[in-house]
Amino acid sequence: MIDIKNLKFIYEGSSKAALNNINLTINKGDFVGITGPSGAGKTSFLNALNGIIPHHFKGDYYGKVIVKGMDVFESQVTEIAKIAGTVFQDIDSQMVSGYVEDEILYGLENFDVLKDEIEERITKALSDVGILHLRDREISSLSGGQKQKTAIAAILALKPEVLFLDEPTGELDPSSSRQIFSLLKELNENYGITIIVAEQKIMLLSEFVKTLGIMDKGSFVLYGDTRDVLKNSDILEEVGVKCPRVVTLMNMLRQEGFIGDEIAINAKEAEEIIRRVIHDRV
Ligand SMILES: Nc1ncnc2c1ncn2[C@@H]1O[C@H](COP(=O)(O)OP(=O)(O)OP(=O)(O)O)[C@@H](O)[C@H]1O
Ligand SMILES: [Mg+2]
Repeated sequence: MIDIKNLKFIYEGSSKAALNNINLTINKGDFVGITGPSGAGKTSFLNALNGIIPHHFKGDYYGKVIVKGMDVFESQVTEIAKIAGTVFQDIDSQMVSGYVEDEILYGLENFDVLKDEIEERITKALSDVGILHLRDREISSLSGGQKQKTAIAAILALKPEVLFLDEPTGELDPSSSRQIFSLLKELNENYGITIIVAEQKIMLLSEFVKTLGIMDKGSFVLYGDTRDVLKNSDILEEVGVKCPRVVTLMNMLRQEGFIGDEIAINAKEAEEIIRRVIHDRV
């Protein structure tokens, strides 16, 4: 679905590469989380996939990014957007309408969706994200989580095959953050939408995403199955990504030789492993 070869990008006027030496293949149906310290390049990476880099942000561009057969460098941002929708970090600036329904309608009209398809698309997108009851509400009256869902619904109505999200829970409390990730999981599992999400909250990533990428200084230092990536406590610590406590505990038990290759990503799994270790030892 997405192929990235030797990608390097230096923003105009900058002396160092914001993206460097990136080689990745993202398959259809993947659910990828990307994390890393501030300035690591997460936003730049997503923007290199949706075409904002190099079409809106100029600079020195090397390598190739292919999204469903389209060379991002050669394609227009609007063409790419028909396949891959983006929910940007600052959703307030992404919202263009005063009301929820109009926000969904705006994208549909821009994409020249046929008039007799519009009603069904609006209803489906709103009910898929669980906010059909908010259809007539003013956007300024919504909570952060409801706004985020509106932004996601507006993109979903365009029937994307790929969804990019940049820190979708940045402004949300823990419960709304979990709701957003549960929603992403459903969209990935039920509709096979490929999802790539930049996120600081490692607890959410460890619980929900199938593939985890850790960025530092413009490159991926780790990328793979979430559980495998989380076993690298040394590298995570080195780049300043704070592991969930159960993961740290498991990594300590492994280093001390108490457990093998397994890992727990929640308290329940940790409990099972610890019970077994104790059982085996007494
Ligand atoms: N428009 C721009 N012009 C010049 N340099 C930029 C621009 N946007 C980002 N950068 C630089 O590129 C590097 C990567 O930034 P980016 O915003 O992609 O990181 P990030 O991982 O998304 O950070 P954060 O967690 O703070 O959102 C940083 O050094 C940043 O200063
Ligand atoms: Mg960012």
